[in-house]
Order: sequence, then structure tokens, then C-alpha cells
Amino acid sequence: MSHEKIETNVGLMAVLIAVAISFGGLAQIIPLMFQAEAIEPAPGVKPYGPLQLAGRDVYIREGCYNCHSQMVRTLRFETERYGHYSLAGESVYDRPFQWGSKRTGPDLARVGGRYSDDWHRVHLINPRDVVPESNMPGYPWLATTPLDASTVVRRMRALQTIGDPYSDEEIEGAAALVQGKTEMDAVVAYLQGLGIHGPKGR
Ligand code: HEC
Repeated sequence: MSHEKIETNVGLMAVLIAVAISFGGLAQIIPLMFQAEAIEPAPGVKPYGPLQLAGRDVYIREGCYNCHSQMVRTLRFETERYGHYSLAGESVYDRPFQWGSKRTGPDLARVGGRYSDDWHRVHLINPRDVVPESNMPGYPWLATTPLDASTVVRRMRALQTIGDPYSDEEIEGAAALVQGKTEMDAVVAYLQGLGIHGPKGR
């Protein structure tokens, strides 16, 4: 009897359908809210050091993410090429994360240690010097632009405020570590750290 009432009243039916669906949605969304906070850093994953942090800013400023993702997906052909698929615990200190999906160039999630520092320097100044068919643009100005130490210190302090475990000593010593370095030094340090604490193998 009551069922008939629902079936013959479109308005009531629509409201009840919305209620039923929202329960499904909440059952999926609410656990995720708590899970996001529960994700622990993967073993060995630490907040970025000052030079890497500065390099990460340059990476974002130059728009490297427009052509490079930083997430190895759980697909055989990806893990064969790049290594073990990416884990959430590897990017807990990435704000904002650089996972992306646009891949004009290769994924960079595990590029750390794949090439020498010198290879990266030459490649970033003019990619065609090491990869003749490359269509990646050159970034020669990075090699001549000095880093601004004061911004790095402020960045670290901001990250500490939102919970990244930097010690006060680390923040105080940060300026000295980036003093006299160029943006190129910073980007290379950043790239060389990518994925090095991820699980080994495929
Ligand atoms: C217009 C697209 C584009 C942009 C923007 C771009 N790249 Fe690339 N990148 C590529 C392509 C294509 C390749 C593959 C050919 C090569 O090695 O040069 C590549 C290769 C690389 C590699 C070697 C990866 C590997 O596994 O062999 C690194 C490292 C890299 N890029 C870093 C950067 C950084 C850092 C920036 C920003 C400063 C950047 N790229 C911006 C297209 C791009």
C-alpha cells in the first residue's frame, strides 16, 4: 500500500531515490576523509631538503608538469618501463602533488638516480645535446639564476606550520645550504630525489 503511494508520486519517489543514493555516496566518501589523514610516509620518505624544495618550486614555475607526470600507474607496461607503481605514502610531503596525467615526456616519479647530475644539466640547457630527437624545450636560464635563500626559509616555515616535521635547526640552517646555488642546482637535486625511497623492483 505505501509502496504504491511512492510509485505513483514522482516527487516523493525522486526525493527518496536521492536519499538512497546519498547513503551510497556517504559510505564511500566518509571513510576516505579519515583515510587521507591516516596515510603514513613510506619508509625513508622525508620532507624535502631546502635545495630540493627550491627545485620543486622551479619545476612548478617552469610548468614541467605540463609534459611530465609523476605517477607510475598499476599497469604492467608502466611498471616495466618506470619501476614499481607509485604509492600514496611517497607523496605525503608533496603540496600540491605533481601526479598529473599529461605525458608528452616520460613519467618522472622514479627518475632519481637514473642519470648523472651532469646529464641533467646538459639536458636541461639543451635537451637535443643528449637526446637528438627530443622536443623538450631548453631551460638555459636556470644555470645562471641564483636562488633566493630567504624564500626557501619562509617556505619551510610555512610547511612546518601545516605539519611537515622540519626541526627549527633544519630551517635555521636552510639558508646556508642554498646560498650561492643556482636554480639549475636546485632542479637537479629535486629530480635526483624523485622516487628514490619507493619500493624496489616492479
Ligand atoms: C613540451 C614538453 C616538455 C616540457 C615542458 C618539459 N619536458 Fe622534460 N621531456 C620532454 C620529452 C619529450 C622528453 C623525452 C626526450 C628527452 O629526454 O629529452 C623529456 C625528458 C625529460 C627527462 C628525462 C626523463 C627520462 O626518464 O629519460 C627529464 C629529467 C625531464 N624531461 C625534466 C624536465 C624538467 C625538469 C622540465 C621543466 C624544467 C621539463 N622536463 C619540461 C618534454 C618536456
